[in-house]
Amino acid sequence: EKQWMKVIALSAVPVDDVTAVNAGGQELAIYGVGGEVFATDNICTHGHARLCDGFLDGHEIECPLHQGKFDVRSGKAMCEPLTSDIRTYPVKVEDGCVFVEL
Ligand code: FES
Repeated sequence: EKQWMKVIALSAVPVDDVTAVNAGGQELAIYGVGGEVFATDNICTHGHARLCDGFLDGHEIECPLHQGKFDVRSGKAMCEPLTSDIRTYPVKVEDGCVFVEL
């Protein structure tokens, strides 16, 4: 059963950058891009690296370990060495808070 969980205040979402939150016992990466908010799993699909420690360039997050890149909107793996997309989560903003559907 999926549910919307409040994960972070909108004011705490970094501008054109990434941060991590814990929600429902899992770690998510939260991205602020051009006034929009996106959410993915925080652990890379290639190895044990945290995407919140990576580099966000537009809609692409670059993994800090081997520089694989994912599109944060779709989770699509954009380049080697990635072979698997990353999971994304629906996001909504209400009353100044960011909710993620988990
Ligand atoms: Fe992310 Fe290798 S752990 S690209």
